[in-house]
Amino acid sequence: MSPVVIRPADPVVDYPAVATLLSAVSPSPVTADQIRAWDDRDADSRDADGVIRRRAVADLDGQVVAYSLVYREPFDPPGSFYLWVTVADGRRGQGVGGFVYEEALAFARSHGATALRSEVQEAAPDALAWATRRGFTIERHTYESTLDLASFDETPFAGLLDRVAGAGIRLFSLAEGGNTPELRRQLYEANYRGVLDDPGYTGRAWLSYAQFSHFFTERWFQPEGQFLAADGDAVIGLSAITCNAETGEATQMITAVDAPYRGQGIAQALKLRAVLYARSRGARLIRTNNDSTNAPMLAINRKLGFRPEPGLYRLIRALPEAGED
Ligand SMILES: CC(C)(COP(=O)(O)OP(=O)(O)OC[C@H]1O[C@@H](n2cnc3c(N)ncnc32)[C@H](O)[C@@H]1OP(=O)(O)O)[C@@H](O)C(=O)NCCC(=O)NCCS
Repeated sequence: MSPVVIRPADPVVDYPAVATLLSAVSPSPVTADQIRAWDDRDADSRDADGVIRRRAVADLDGQVVAYSLVYREPFDPPGSFYLWVTVADGRRGQGVGGFVYEEALAFARSHGATALRSEVQEAAPDALAWATRRGFTIERHTYESTLDLASFDETPFAGLLDRVAGAGIRLFSLAEGGNTPELRRQLYEANYRGVLDDPGYTGRAWLSYAQFSHFFTERWFQPEGQFLAADGDAVIGLSAITCNAETGEATQMITAVDAPYRGQGIAQALKLRAVLYARSRGARLIRTNNDSTNAPMLAINRKLGFRPEPGLYRLIRALPEAGED
Protein backbone atom coordinates (compact mmCIF):
# COMPACT_ATOMS: atom_id res chain seq x y z
CA MET A 1 0.00 0.00 0.00
CA SER A 2 1.39 3.39 -0.95
CA PRO A 3 1.52 5.92 1.86
CA VAL A 4 -1.29 8.29 2.74
CA VAL A 5 -0.49 11.86 1.63
CA ILE A 6 -2.13 14.78 3.42
CA ARG A 7 -2.60 18.01 1.46
CA PRO A 8 -4.76 21.14 1.69
CA ALA A 9 -8.17 20.49 0.10
CA ASP A 10 -8.59 22.12 -3.30
CA PRO A 11 -12.10 23.71 -3.51
CA VAL A 12 -12.56 22.63 -7.13
CA VAL A 13 -10.85 19.24 -7.22
CA ASP A 14 -11.47 17.95 -3.67
CA TYR A 15 -14.70 19.48 -2.35
CA PRO A 16 -17.00 16.97 -4.08
CA ALA A 17 -15.14 14.15 -2.28
CA VAL A 18 -15.14 16.14 0.97
CA ALA A 19 -18.91 16.65 0.58
CA THR A 20 -19.37 12.89 0.20
CA LEU A 21 -17.36 12.26 3.39
CA LEU A 22 -19.34 14.91 5.30
CA SER A 23 -22.70 13.65 4.02
CA ALA A 24 -21.88 10.17 5.30
CA VAL A 25 -21.72 11.45 8.90
CA SER A 26 -24.16 14.42 8.85
CA PRO A 27 -27.90 14.23 9.51
CA SER A 28 -28.54 15.99 6.18
CA PRO A 29 -26.55 15.93 2.91
CA VAL A 30 -23.73 18.43 2.33
CA THR A 31 -22.77 19.70 -1.14
CA ALA A 32 -19.48 21.05 -2.49
CA ASP A 33 -21.21 24.40 -3.12
CA GLN A 34 -22.26 24.56 0.51
CA ILE A 35 -18.65 24.09 1.65
CA ARG A 36 -17.54 26.87 -0.71
CA ALA A 37 -20.29 29.11 0.73
CA TRP A 38 -18.99 28.41 4.27
CA ASP A 39 -15.54 29.42 3.04
CA ASP A 40 -16.93 32.67 1.61
CA ARG A 41 -18.48 33.56 4.94
CA ASP A 42 -15.05 34.04 6.47
CA ALA A 43 -13.27 35.32 3.40
CA ASP A 44 -13.73 39.00 4.22
CA SER A 45 -12.90 38.80 7.90
CA ARG A 46 -10.05 36.30 7.61
CA ASP A 47 -7.16 38.73 7.39
CA ALA A 48 -8.60 41.30 9.75
CA ASP A 49 -9.68 38.96 12.52
CA GLY A 50 -7.14 36.16 12.35
CA VAL A 51 -9.51 33.44 11.16
CA ILE A 52 -7.64 30.22 10.53
CA ARG A 53 -9.43 27.54 8.60
CA ARG A 54 -7.65 24.70 6.92
CA ARG A 55 -9.47 21.90 5.18
CA ALA A 56 -7.12 19.02 4.38
CA VAL A 57 -7.64 15.73 2.59
CA ALA A 58 -5.75 12.47 2.92
CA ASP A 59 -5.01 10.95 -0.45
CA LEU A 60 -4.34 7.23 -0.91
CA ASP A 61 -3.63 5.99 -4.43
CA GLY A 62 -5.34 9.06 -5.90
CA GLN A 63 -8.44 8.65 -3.74
CA VAL A 64 -9.59 10.94 -0.94
CA VAL A 65 -9.91 8.63 2.08
CA ALA A 66 -10.09 11.13 4.95
CA TYR A 67 -10.66 14.79 5.71
CA SER A 68 -9.67 17.13 8.52
CA LEU A 69 -10.76 20.63 9.48
CA VAL A 70 -8.80 22.97 11.72
CA TYR A 71 -10.73 26.13 12.42
CA ARG A 72 -10.31 29.20 14.58
CA GLU A 73 -13.10 31.73 14.41
CA PRO A 74 -12.41 35.40 15.02
CA PHE A 75 -14.33 35.38 18.29
CA ASP A 76 -12.63 32.29 19.73
CA PRO A 77 -10.54 32.82 22.85
CA PRO A 78 -6.78 32.86 22.19
CA GLY A 79 -5.43 29.35 21.68
CA SER A 80 -8.85 27.69 21.21
CA PHE A 81 -9.22 25.72 17.95
CA TYR A 82 -11.88 23.48 16.47
CA LEU A 83 -10.45 20.22 15.09
CA TRP A 84 -12.45 17.55 13.32
CA VAL A 85 -11.51 14.40 11.43
CA THR A 86 -13.47 11.86 9.40
CA VAL A 87 -12.34 8.73 7.55
CA ALA A 88 -14.18 7.05 4.66
CA ASP A 89 -16.19 4.03 5.74
CA GLY A 90 -14.09 1.34 4.09
CA ARG A 91 -10.81 2.87 5.34
CA ARG A 92 -11.50 2.88 9.06
CA GLY A 93 -9.54 0.83 11.56
CA GLN A 94 -6.30 1.10 9.55
CA GLY A 95 -4.64 3.99 11.38
CA VAL A 96 -5.64 6.62 8.82
CA GLY A 97 -7.69 8.65 11.33
CA GLY A 98 -4.89 8.75 13.90
CA PHE A 99 -2.41 9.83 11.22
CA VAL A 100 -4.70 12.60 9.95
CA TYR A 101 -5.48 13.71 13.51
CA GLU A 102 -1.80 13.99 14.47
CA GLU A 103 -1.06 16.06 11.38
CA ALA A 104 -4.04 18.37 12.06
CA LEU A 105 -2.99 18.68 15.70
CA ALA A 106 0.54 19.65 14.66
CA PHE A 107 -0.91 22.25 12.29
CA ALA A 108 -3.12 23.68 15.06
CA ARG A 109 -0.21 23.75 17.51
CA SER A 110 1.99 25.53 14.99
CA HIS A 111 -0.68 28.26 14.95
CA GLY A 112 -0.77 28.57 18.72
CA ALA A 113 -3.43 26.04 19.77
CA THR A 114 -3.58 25.38 23.51
CA ALA A 115 -7.09 23.86 23.59
CA LEU A 116 -9.23 21.93 21.11
CA ARG A 117 -12.96 21.69 20.53
CA SER A 118 -14.66 19.01 18.48
CA GLU A 119 -17.94 17.13 18.19
CA VAL A 120 -19.22 13.62 17.53
CA GLN A 121 -22.65 12.25 16.76
CA GLU A 122 -24.32 10.44 19.66
CA ALA A 123 -25.10 7.66 17.18
CA ALA A 124 -21.37 7.04 16.67
CA PRO A 125 -20.10 5.53 19.94
CA ASP A 126 -16.92 4.34 18.18
CA ALA A 127 -16.07 7.94 17.25
CA LEU A 128 -16.68 9.09 20.83
CA ALA A 129 -14.43 6.31 22.16
CA TRP A 130 -11.78 7.26 19.57
CA ALA A 131 -11.86 10.91 20.65
CA THR A 132 -11.87 9.96 24.34
CA ARG A 133 -8.70 7.93 23.82
CA ARG A 134 -7.13 11.12 22.47
CA GLY A 135 -7.93 13.09 25.61
CA PHE A 136 -11.24 14.71 24.63
CA THR A 137 -14.00 14.98 27.23
CA ILE A 138 -17.70 15.77 26.83
CA GLU A 139 -18.52 19.44 27.42
CA ARG A 140 -22.18 19.47 26.35
CA HIS A 141 -24.83 17.18 24.93
CA THR A 142 -27.26 18.54 22.36
CA TYR A 143 -29.79 16.54 20.46
CA GLU A 144 -31.67 16.89 17.29
CA SER A 145 -35.46 16.87 17.00
CA THR A 146 -37.50 16.59 13.83
CA LEU A 147 -41.03 17.66 13.00
CA ASP A 148 -42.89 15.84 10.21
CA LEU A 149 -44.84 18.60 8.46
CA ALA A 150 -47.20 16.22 6.67
CA SER A 151 -48.72 15.25 10.02
CA PHE A 152 -48.29 18.59 11.82
CA ASP A 153 -51.54 19.56 13.55
CA GLU A 154 -51.99 23.24 14.36
CA THR A 155 -55.45 22.89 15.99
CA PRO A 156 -54.03 22.85 19.59
CA PHE A 157 -52.61 26.31 18.83
CA ALA A 158 -55.86 27.89 17.60
CA GLY A 159 -56.13 31.36 19.11
CA LEU A 160 -52.47 31.53 20.19
CA LEU A 161 -51.46 34.18 17.63
CA ASP A 162 -54.53 36.30 18.51
CA ARG A 163 -53.77 35.94 22.23
CA VAL A 164 -50.22 37.18 21.79
CA ALA A 165 -51.42 40.05 19.56
CA GLY A 166 -54.07 40.89 22.19
CA ALA A 167 -51.29 41.24 24.78
CA GLY A 168 -49.77 43.97 22.59
CA ILE A 169 -46.96 41.91 21.04
CA ARG A 170 -46.59 42.18 17.26
CA LEU A 171 -45.22 39.20 15.35
CA PHE A 172 -43.81 39.78 11.87
CA SER A 173 -41.03 38.51 9.63
CA LEU A 174 -37.99 40.59 8.79
CA ALA A 175 -39.36 40.76 5.22
CA GLU A 176 -42.77 41.96 6.43
CA GLY A 177 -41.01 44.60 8.55
CA GLY A 178 -39.27 45.95 5.43
CA ASN A 179 -35.87 44.27 6.06
CA THR A 180 -34.54 47.67 7.14
CA PRO A 181 -31.03 48.32 8.53
CA GLU A 182 -32.62 49.19 11.88
CA LEU A 183 -34.54 45.89 12.03
CA ARG A 184 -31.48 43.90 10.94
CA ARG A 185 -29.56 45.45 13.80
CA GLN A 186 -32.37 44.59 16.24
CA LEU A 187 -32.46 41.03 14.87
CA TYR A 188 -28.73 40.75 15.59
CA GLU A 189 -29.09 42.12 19.11
CA ALA A 190 -32.00 39.77 19.91
CA ASN A 191 -29.86 36.85 18.61
CA TYR A 192 -26.96 37.97 20.79
CA ARG A 193 -29.07 38.18 23.95
CA GLY A 194 -30.58 34.76 23.16
CA VAL A 195 -27.21 33.08 22.55
CA LEU A 196 -25.86 34.34 25.88
CA ASP A 197 -28.99 33.13 27.68
CA ASP A 198 -29.09 29.64 26.16
CA PRO A 199 -28.16 27.00 28.80
CA GLY A 200 -25.84 25.50 26.14
CA TYR A 201 -23.80 28.73 26.02
CA THR A 202 -20.20 27.93 26.87
CA GLY A 203 -18.90 31.44 27.50
CA ARG A 204 -17.33 32.10 24.10
CA ALA A 205 -17.75 35.59 22.72
CA TRP A 206 -20.14 35.82 19.77
CA LEU A 207 -20.20 37.37 16.31
CA SER A 208 -19.72 41.10 15.83
CA TYR A 209 -22.42 42.86 13.81
CA ALA A 210 -20.03 43.06 10.84
CA GLN A 211 -19.59 39.28 10.94
CA PHE A 212 -23.31 38.63 11.43
CA SER A 213 -24.07 40.93 8.45
CA HIS A 214 -22.48 38.38 6.11
CA PHE A 215 -25.50 36.17 6.73
CA PHE A 216 -27.76 38.71 5.00
CA THR A 217 -26.10 37.90 1.67
CA GLU A 218 -26.01 34.12 2.08
CA ARG A 219 -28.34 31.81 0.24
CA TRP A 220 -29.77 30.14 3.35
CA PHE A 221 -30.79 33.48 4.89
CA GLN A 222 -34.50 34.04 4.19
CA PRO A 223 -35.88 37.36 5.53
CA GLU A 224 -39.36 35.72 5.27
CA GLY A 225 -38.19 33.07 7.78
CA GLN A 226 -36.73 35.45 10.38
CA PHE A 227 -39.65 36.03 12.75
CA LEU A 228 -39.58 38.87 15.24
CA ALA A 229 -41.71 39.74 18.27
CA ALA A 230 -41.92 43.42 19.14
CA ASP A 231 -43.35 45.41 22.02
CA GLY A 232 -43.86 48.82 20.42
CA ASP A 233 -40.68 49.37 18.40
CA ALA A 234 -38.51 47.18 20.60
CA VAL A 235 -37.74 43.66 19.34
CA ILE A 236 -38.07 41.33 22.34
CA GLY A 237 -37.92 37.92 20.67
CA LEU A 238 -37.12 36.02 17.51
CA SER A 239 -37.34 32.65 15.82
CA ALA A 240 -35.24 31.86 12.75
CA ILE A 241 -35.84 29.16 10.15
CA THR A 242 -34.56 28.38 6.67
CA CYS A 243 -35.98 26.07 4.01
CA ASN A 244 -33.80 24.15 1.59
CA ALA A 245 -35.76 23.55 -1.62
CA GLU A 246 -33.25 20.92 -2.81
CA THR A 247 -33.55 18.65 0.24
CA GLY A 248 -37.15 19.52 1.15
CA GLU A 249 -35.95 20.10 4.70
CA ALA A 250 -36.11 23.18 6.90
CA THR A 251 -33.67 24.00 9.69
CA GLN A 252 -35.05 25.71 12.75
CA MET A 253 -32.37 27.91 14.28
CA ILE A 254 -32.49 30.01 17.41
CA THR A 255 -35.70 30.98 19.18
CA ALA A 256 -35.33 33.44 22.05
CA VAL A 257 -37.54 35.72 24.10
CA ASP A 258 -36.21 38.38 26.47
CA ALA A 259 -36.56 37.37 30.12
CA PRO A 260 -39.30 39.87 31.15
CA TYR A 261 -41.56 38.56 28.37
CA ARG A 262 -41.21 34.82 29.02
CA GLY A 263 -43.99 32.44 30.04
CA GLN A 264 -46.64 34.22 27.92
CA GLY A 265 -46.60 31.91 24.89
CA ILE A 266 -44.49 34.28 22.76
CA ALA A 267 -41.88 31.66 21.85
CA GLN A 268 -44.61 29.18 20.92
CA ALA A 269 -46.30 31.79 18.73
CA LEU A 270 -43.00 32.63 17.01
CA LYS A 271 -42.26 28.97 16.39
CA LEU A 272 -45.78 28.38 15.12
CA ARG A 273 -45.19 31.12 12.52
CA ALA A 274 -41.90 29.44 11.62
CA VAL A 275 -43.53 26.02 11.24
CA LEU A 276 -46.36 27.41 9.08
CA TYR A 277 -43.80 29.24 6.94
CA ALA A 278 -41.81 26.03 6.37
CA ARG A 279 -44.98 24.16 5.43
CA SER A 280 -46.05 26.93 3.02
CA ARG A 281 -42.63 26.63 1.32
CA GLY A 282 -43.22 22.92 0.70
CA ALA A 283 -40.77 21.58 3.30
CA ARG A 284 -41.62 18.08 4.54
CA LEU A 285 -39.47 18.10 7.68
CA ILE A 286 -37.99 20.57 10.17
CA ARG A 287 -34.75 19.80 11.98
CA THR A 288 -33.57 21.57 15.12
CA ASN A 289 -30.86 21.13 17.75
CA ASN A 290 -31.24 21.82 21.44
CA ASP A 291 -29.11 21.64 24.52
CA SER A 292 -30.27 18.64 26.56
CA THR A 293 -30.78 20.91 29.61
CA ASN A 294 -32.99 23.54 27.93
CA ALA A 295 -36.28 22.52 29.59
CA PRO A 296 -38.55 25.33 28.27
CA MET A 297 -37.37 24.92 24.67
CA LEU A 298 -37.72 21.14 24.83
CA ALA A 299 -41.22 21.53 26.29
CA ILE A 300 -42.21 23.82 23.41
CA ASN A 301 -40.79 21.44 20.83
CA ARG A 302 -42.64 18.49 22.34
CA LYS A 303 -45.89 20.46 22.28
CA LEU A 304 -45.37 21.26 18.62
CA GLY A 305 -44.80 17.58 17.87
CA PHE A 306 -41.01 17.47 17.42
CA ARG A 307 -39.58 13.98 17.96
CA PRO A 308 -36.15 13.56 19.59
CA GLU A 309 -33.41 12.02 17.43
CA PRO A 310 -29.88 10.96 18.43
CA GLY A 311 -27.82 14.01 19.28
CA LEU A 312 -24.35 15.40 19.34
CA TYR A 313 -21.61 15.56 21.97
CA ARG A 314 -19.52 18.72 22.04
CA LEU A 315 -15.99 17.81 23.11
CA ILE A 316 -13.05 19.71 24.53
CA ARG A 317 -9.40 18.90 25.08
CA ALA A 318 -6.77 21.01 26.85
CA LEU A 319 -3.43 20.54 25.12
CA PRO A 320 -0.38 19.73 27.20
CA GLU A 321 2.88 21.47 26.33
CA ALA A 322 4.38 20.26 23.06
CA GLY A 323 6.12 16.92 23.53
CA GLU A 324 3.93 15.84 26.44
CA ASP A 325 1.10 14.31 24.31
C1 LIG B 1 -36.76 29.02 25.47
C2 LIG B 1 -37.46 30.40 25.44
C3 LIG B 1 -37.35 30.93 24.02
C4 LIG B 1 -38.96 30.23 25.82
O1 LIG B 1 -39.63 31.48 25.66
P1 LIG B 1 -41.08 31.78 26.30
O2 LIG B 1 -41.68 32.90 25.55
O3 LIG B 1 -40.96 31.87 27.76
O4 LIG B 1 -41.84 30.43 25.92
P2 LIG B 1 -43.44 30.15 26.00
O5 LIG B 1 -44.04 31.03 27.01
O6 LIG B 1 -44.00 30.20 24.62
O7 LIG B 1 -43.48 28.62 26.42
C5 LIG B 1 -42.69 28.11 27.46
C6 LIG B 1 -43.19 26.70 27.77
O8 LIG B 1 -42.14 26.01 28.45
C7 LIG B 1 -42.65 25.48 29.66
N1 LIG B 1 -41.57 25.51 30.64
C8 LIG B 1 -40.93 26.57 31.14
N2 LIG B 1 -39.98 26.17 32.02
C9 LIG B 1 -40.02 24.82 32.04
C10 LIG B 1 -39.30 23.84 32.75
N3 LIG B 1 -38.31 24.17 33.60
N4 LIG B 1 -39.61 22.54 32.51
C11 LIG B 1 -40.57 22.18 31.65
N5 LIG B 1 -41.32 23.10 30.96
C12 LIG B 1 -41.04 24.40 31.16
C13 LIG B 1 -43.77 26.41 30.04
O9 LIG B 1 -44.67 25.81 30.92
C14 LIG B 1 -44.39 26.71 28.66
O10 LIG B 1 -45.25 25.68 28.25
P3 LIG B 1 -46.88 25.81 28.45
O11 LIG B 1 -47.31 26.95 27.61
O12 LIG B 1 -47.39 24.51 27.96
O13 LIG B 1 -47.10 26.04 29.90
C15 LIG B 1 -36.82 31.37 26.46
O14 LIG B 1 -36.71 30.71 27.71
C16 LIG B 1 -35.45 31.87 26.05
O15 LIG B 1 -35.34 32.86 25.31
N6 LIG B 1 -34.36 31.22 26.51
C17 LIG B 1 -32.99 31.66 26.16
C18 LIG B 1 -32.64 31.36 24.72
C19 LIG B 1 -32.68 29.90 24.43
O16 LIG B 1 -32.22 29.06 25.18
N7 LIG B 1 -33.27 29.57 23.29
C20 LIG B 1 -33.34 28.22 22.83
C21 LIG B 1 -32.21 27.95 21.92
S1 LIG B 1 -32.82 27.65 20.33
